Amino acid sequence: MRSLSTHRRHPLAGVLVLLLGLVVLGGLYSVLAPRSAEADSTDEALIDDGRQLFLVGCASCHGLNADGIEQQDGGQYGPSLVGVGAAAVDFQVGTGRMPLAQNSQQAPEKAVIYTDDETAALATYVASLSPGPAIPTEEDYDASDASREEVVEGRETWLTNCSACHNSVGAGGALGDGRYAPPVLGTDPKYVYEAMLTGPQSMPVFNDALLDPEEKRTIIAYLETLEAEPQYGGAGLGGFGPVTEGLAAWLVGMGALVAVATWIGATAVRARQ
Ligand code: HEC
Ligand code: HEC
Repeated sequence: MRSLSTHRRHPLAGVLVLLLGLVVLGGLYSVLAPRSAEADSTDEALIDDGRQLFLVGCASCHGLNADGIEQQDGGQYGPSLVGVGAAAVDFQVGTGRMPLAQNSQQAPEKAVIYTDDETAALATYVASLSPGPAIPTEEDYDASDASREEVVEGRETWLTNCSACHNSVGAGGALGDGRYAPPVLGTDPKYVYEAMLTGPQSMPVFNDALLDPEEKRTIIAYLETLEAEPQYGGAGLGGFGPVTEGLAAWLVGMGALVAVATWIGATAVRARQ
């Protein structure tokens, strides 16, 4: 006992304890730490391909390092893509929205110009900049085995969260300022899932805290049920919102009123004669 306490007072004892502590801590850390998000070497080649494609097709708007380009007046050519994740790139490039043709209110869907492999490379490159939502797997969005109850739940969730912009049966609708929410029937379930995850343009982000993966899947189940429903004829008004619907109401409704008024007028005149 005596020798221990004298050793403890040795000037190097403190340093030794500190070193020992650090070694133990380091060992524990390497065992317990979460796996780092760094890409492994198979991804390196993909990231490099993606970066080359990015420099050619995207950097003019999004910047050489994908951190966005600001215009002099504070507006942006393209926002920073750091942290938007692979899902955003897969959605934007996979539906042909990006590369944007010209800056406008809306980035419309158009013909896709990148192959699946190129899109994957672009997505891997952007994801390597900073972690963000990953591309969902088929397990996430496959709703083919959904039960009736799940479809009903999906309808409720759709009506609460999505129908204000996309209409109760997914036909889309006009938003202010020349923007519109597109129809969603016929959209690949993967892109429906990614749209919720990443909130393109004026659509809000529905992260997993707002709508958990199961709720996202039931929404997809509801939309697929709508797609499978037979159409019972009749001319649709295109779902363009109040303008066409108002016009139809005016022409048909007012037309009927005018016809009735004319008829009353004619019979009244005849009755007096
Ligand atoms: C002509 C300019 C232009 C080009 C070229 C372009 N973008 Fe964009 N990009 C934009 C603008 C502007 C937005 C923002 C759209 C909005 O939200 O209104 C955007 C948005 C995005 C988003 C969504 C970001 C988010 O917050 O979810 C992604 C992802 C994206 N671009 C990827 C790409 C990729 C990949 C390419 C190349 C294949 C590309 N863009 C080419 C202008 C451009
Ligand atoms: C505030 C209005 C708004 C709400 C609420 C909204 N969206 Fe959207 N959504 C939009 C707009 C605007 C776009 C078009 C974005 C673009 O073109 O880049 C869009 C695009 C989409 C697309 C892509 C369609 C396609 O064919 O490419 C899907 C799918 C979608 N939304 C699903 C949903 C779902 C599911 C919900 C509810 C969980 C929802 N949206 C809620 C405004 C909205």
